[in-house]
Amino acid sequence: MKALLEKGVRISLEAEKLADSSSIPPEELLSLQKNFITEDDVRLLIAQKNENKKEEPLDAEQKAKFIPPSGFHPLAKEYGPSLRFHEKLDVTGKSRGSGTVDDFVAYFRDRFQRLSRMLTAYSSKYPEAALQEMKKSEGQKVKSIIMITDIRQTKNNNILMDVEDLEGKFKILFSQRDEKTFERAKLLVRDDIIAVFGKVTNAFIVVEEFEFPDLPISRDRKVCEKDVAIAYLSDIHFGSNKFVQPYLDGFVDWLHGNRGNPELAGKIKYISIAGDLVDGIGIYPNQERELTEKDIYKQYAQFDAFIQSLPDYIEIIVGPGNHDAVRRGEPMPAIPTDMVKSDVHLIGSPAYATIENSDHLIYHGTSTDSWIASIAKLSYDKPEHVMVECLRRRHLSPIFGGNAIVPERMDYMLIEKEPDVLHFGHVHKNGYTKYRGTLVINSGTFQSTTDFQLKQGHIPTPGRVPVLELKSDALRTLDFSR
Ligand SMILES: [Fe+2]
Repeated sequence: MKALLEKGVRISLEAEKLADSSSIPPEELLSLQKNFITEDDVRLLIAQKNENKKEEPLDAEQKAKFIPPSGFHPLAKEYGPSLRFHEKLDVTGKSRGSGTVDDFVAYFRDRFQRLSRMLTAYSSKYPEAALQEMKKSEGQKVKSIIMITDIRQTKNNNILMDVEDLEGKFKILFSQRDEKTFERAKLLVRDDIIAVFGKVTNAFIVVEEFEFPDLPISRDRKVCEKDVAIAYLSDIHFGSNKFVQPYLDGFVDWLHGNRGNPELAGKIKYISIAGDLVDGIGIYPNQERELTEKDIYKQYAQFDAFIQSLPDYIEIIVGPGNHDAVRRGEPMPAIPTDMVKSDVHLIGSPAYATIENSDHLIYHGTSTDSWIASIAKLSYDKPEHVMVECLRRRHLSPIFGGNAIVPERMDYMLIEKEPDVLHFGHVHKNGYTKYRGTLVINSGTFQSTTDFQLKQGHIPTPGRVPVLELKSDALRTLDFSR
């Protein structure tokens, strides 16, 4: 990048790596006419370069691979779709965050106010007190809604936290003598918003109990009359040399009634895909060595070919992941239609979709990394436990700075509505649980173990597809890796 320096142009390290791996020569970077070139500038340049490239025609052979047997009469074909999206809770087309101080203030204020409303609903025998007024409550028992700004251990091994509300600051203390609350406090992370109950003593609230915003304890299961089913996918990674085409072919072949349990295959009316359709380019250092396809448009053309090979009565919902061609910061807008050209429902991450009468919250799950780094008992082996922590917090990514968040005026990562199904991907490991009436699904991957995962000791579960039958509420996993 000497040529840039000679012209007085600076370039970020990430941008330089991306330009190198995508073979962008310095003269093209100079054509941007910028004094400082960022990673986004290079991405834009790559996108412009590819703009005029023709779409690859669908390989006829690929389509002909999946011909249903003559006796296959899918039930899902008999029904029309019932699908609704909640645009207000999806950032697509609405992003205004530019990272100014005002944006950050508005973002945290929105988060605090909306979660406070949920926390206010908890009844309390103690009066609610603002932190600014707390010194006047010395010796009294109070309830307070707070955001945690710092966590540390005291010399006596108690846990001390700096906390804030909209007007004031204070400190709260968890004493190890109160074993039950002390153990629960180990689950708390920076930026958590909770309600604390306790006595004000020497400029601390000594916490007796605390509550997360959480889901209501139970909800009635919604009954769906139509005997249809949803399949959940994520992390397909077209373009990666670890993408396992035969497993995905097995799934498509099954949908066409050619494999075991064609009755269930015929019920699939919807497919929800939670991001990482492609492996992308320039996502991590030296990624190009692990790609079979280095053109992002061609990676998406492979995804489009997959969509076209699916039965045409199936509705497909597609959200982005951190490998897709959208901004890195969350919330992520929908993948642009010049990338995914098929007739699918493109949504942001996170986004809500009501499928029949089941409210789905679909999120790629990028924050899983910061959760696992922050809470000792969480691991990549049990992604469903991370997802439960999100439900408890009513927030998909509370740890600010843990992974990139764009401070929008509204916090799209907040879990406004209780979902019937929470669908994540990202960790490439299937995981399921039920928490307070919400079915939690991590849908695994179609990519086998990468060198990076091998070094981390992380073993993915490629080729396993969870399927939910809406009428019976039965969830099962079909294994296409066999
Ligand atoms: Fe992925």
